[in-house]
Amino acid sequence: MADDNPFSGGFTPVTEEITAFDLPVTGTLPPELSGRYLRNGPNPIDLDHPQPHLFLGEGMIHGVRLRDGKAEWYRNRWVRSDKVAAALGEEPRPGPYFDDRDFAANTHVIGHAGRTIALIEAGLPAYELTEELETVGRCDFGGTLPGGYAAHSKLDPRTGELHAIAYYYGWEYVQHVVISPEGKVTRTVNIPMQDSPMIHDFALTEKYVVIYDLPVTFSMAALESGVRLPYAWNEEHPARVGLLPRHGEAKDVRWFDVDPCWVFHTLNGYELDDQVVIDVVSYDSLFVGTRLDSGGPPALDRWTLDLHSGMVKQTRIDDRPQEFPRIDERRVSLPHRYGYTSATRSLADFLPRRAGDLGDLSDPAFTEALVKHDLRTGGQEAHLFPRGANAGEPLFVPAAADGAEDDGYVMTYVNDPERGAADLVILSAQDFAGDPVATVHLPARIPLGFHGSFIPDSTGHNPR
Ligand SMILES: [Fe+2]
Repeated sequence: MADDNPFSGGFTPVTEEITAFDLPVTGTLPPELSGRYLRNGPNPIDLDHPQPHLFLGEGMIHGVRLRDGKAEWYRNRWVRSDKVAAALGEEPRPGPYFDDRDFAANTHVIGHAGRTIALIEAGLPAYELTEELETVGRCDFGGTLPGGYAAHSKLDPRTGELHAIAYYYGWEYVQHVVISPEGKVTRTVNIPMQDSPMIHDFALTEKYVVIYDLPVTFSMAALESGVRLPYAWNEEHPARVGLLPRHGEAKDVRWFDVDPCWVFHTLNGYELDDQVVIDVVSYDSLFVGTRLDSGGPPALDRWTLDLHSGMVKQTRIDDRPQEFPRIDERRVSLPHRYGYTSATRSLADFLPRRAGDLGDLSDPAFTEALVKHDLRTGGQEAHLFPRGANAGEPLFVPAAADGAEDDGYVMTYVNDPERGAADLVILSAQDFAGDPVATVHLPARIPLGFHGSFIPDSTGHNPR
C-alpha cells in the first residue's frame, strides 16, 4: 500500500459512473426486500491531485434496486457538489450553503421524510438525491436547519424523529438537532464545548442523547500548516460522555469521565435500571501528531454509566480489529441482543497504519469477515470472504416489521477478486455463516466506503 495515498488497496477509486439493469442473481432474492440498498463512500474525482486523507474524497453513492425478487438496477453516482458538477461539465446544483462551505457529502446516505439524503459532518452540507441517485441540491430541510448537519443520525423507532449531533469548528458548541417525521427541524439545542471537538457519532436512549466529548479537537496549528482535516489528538482535553435529556437544555447535561480514547461509531445505547449502556467501537487514540490515521486497532467495547455513582465501567467485548457496527434499527435506543461488524483486513490495514498494531489477524475469521455478535451469550459467528473481498459495513434489514430481532438479512457490497467486480451479498442473519441467501452480481468493482441504508418502498421514497 502506498503510504501517502489512502486511496489505494481496497479504497482505490473507480473512474466511471455506470447504469446497469436486470442484474444476474445467484440464489433467491427475498421478495420482501423491496427498495434500494445505497451506500456512500469517498471516491476522489480529481485523481491528478491525490487527497491525503480518506475523509477528503468526494462522495459516491452505489445503489442497487430490488423489487419483486429481482435486482432491477445498479447505479453509482458522485454527489454533485459545485466542484464535482464543474469537473463533470454540469451546471451547479441549487441550495443554500452554510458559511460558504461545500463538499460532496461522502459519509452516509439515508432516507427520511420521502427524501434520499447524502450526509457529511463538520459544517458541510447534506445533499438531496433522486430515487435514481441524481443530485437535486443542497438540503437544509426546507430552510429549518441553522447550520451544517451530521454524518450519523438515529431514527427513534417509536417517534419517527431523527436525532443528530452537529459540530463545526466555527462554533463554540455542538448542536442537538431533531428532525420530525415530516422532515423539518423541530428542535436545536446548543451545548457549549471547549476546544471544538470532533463528534462523529453519538448514542440515543429512551431518555437521553449521549454525547461523546473526546480528545480529538480542532487544531489551528494544523489548519495553518495546510492540513485539510485540521483535527488532532489533544492531551489536554478531558475525555467525557454527556447525557442530555432528550427534552433538556444545555444546563441539564450530566457529564461522566471516561478513559481517553476515540470513538467513531456506536453500536447502540439503552437504559437498564439505573444504568446507561453504550456499545461502541473504540480506538486508543486518533490523529496523533501529523499521522492522521494513527489510532491503534479498533475494538468493540461496552461502557456502562452508573447514574448513582457517576462512574463509568469500560469493558472490552471483543479486542479483534473491527468497525462499522450496526444493529437492527428497530432496537435503536432500546436493549439489543445482536450486533454486526465488519472485520476487513484491508480496512484494518488502513486504519492503524502502524506495523504491529493490527491485533491478532492470524485468526482466519478476522482477515475478511462480517461478524455477528450475540451480546447476551458473548458468542460470535463470522461469515468469511476471500482476501481482497473488502466486505464493508454490514447492514441489517428486517424480514418483517414485527419479526424477531435477528429475523432478517445482513447485506453489503463484497468484491469478487476473481471476477474483478462487486456483488451485493445478502446473508440470512439467522444463518449467518451459511451460504448467502442471494448474491447480486454487479458490473464493476466497488471501493470500500463508509455507510449506507436500505430504503424500503414502504417508506414512500420510490414512486414508480
Ligand atoms: Fe461513520
